[in-house]
Amino acid sequence: LPDEAQMRADIEQLRQEKNAVILAHNYQRPEVQVIADFVGDSLGLSRQAARTDAEVIVFAGVHFMAETAAILNPHKTVLLPDLRAGCSLADTVTAQGVRDWKASNPGGLVVTYVNTTADVKAESDYCCTSGNAVQVVQSLPQDVPVLFAPDRFLAAHVIRETGRAMDVWDGACHVHEAIRPEDVQSQQAAYPDAELLIHPECGCSSRILSAIPELQLYSTEGMIHRAQASAAQEFIVVTETGMVTRLQHDVPGKTFIPVSRTACCEYMKMITLGNILESLQNLQPRVTVPEEIRTRALLPIERMLAIG
Ligand code: 13P
Ligand code: SF4
Repeated sequence: LPDEAQMRADIEQLRQEKNAVILAHNYQRPEVQVIADFVGDSLGLSRQAARTDAEVIVFAGVHFMAETAAILNPHKTVLLPDLRAGCSLADTVTAQGVRDWKASNPGGLVVTYVNTTADVKAESDYCCTSGNAVQVVQSLPQDVPVLFAPDRFLAAHVIRETGRAMDVWDGACHVHEAIRPEDVQSQQAAYPDAELLIHPECGCSSRILSAIPELQLYSTEGMIHRAQASAAQEFIVVTETGMVTRLQHDVPGKTFIPVSRTACCEYMKMITLGNILESLQNLQPRVTVPEEIRTRALLPIERMLAIG
């Protein structure tokens, strides 16, 4: 196996030869974040995918993210270095499930989290990310029922922030759902001066917020801005552990403590320097979306990109 430095050099050469851009989510492995052209949250990555001039997009993330890039760029080559990189949250809802839900709630507007398949997006009126879910729901007409899928913890956060009743799908991410209030409390006991940075997908968020109602929740990119702006020197990072890498890189001099070492998304970690290199060599595996689904999924994504 070539060593890491050689793999990095080969990736760099192929990136130029193939006019490729590497987009990486904040939960990616440290060595992947280092070689990416852009590292960010779901909203930032979608925005980068919408504006890139590159002919090839290598998505260092999970399948729904690469699909979103393919929906926005039908004429570009979108690569996902390991097609098994899925998402337990996206798996909780199907297009047929949304169709049945709409049929029993006529006139409702469907807002789906970007962590969904292209088929589900094609059934949606709006998409949102954790970075703009509150603003998306605030932008909707007041007199219409809102159907929000699939993350019930993010939905609870949106309901709390907007005061708006919504019909909520019963989905969750296995990584964030497993983070318990006790995990947060034991880190708080060990680091009493640390500020909490909590992602709204977390299963612990509702109980922590009932104890500290003024606490803010942050998308992964929101955590960067908060850590930069805050007077605190230490932070307990209540989300997937990869986020600590990004925070340490962007906010040097402050200390970031993962809430739990086991809060690790195995799908995100399937992307490696090795399979990024192979995907650039072979221009495979590609992610494509059938045109009939793509055109219907594009509108809710464009609405998402316009808000927040
Ligand atoms: P954000 O990075 O948009 O906050 O999303 C978190 C996540 O779980 C992505 O899969
Ligand atoms: Fe999906 Fe959860 Fe992994 Fe994000 S952390 S990709 S929501 S399984």
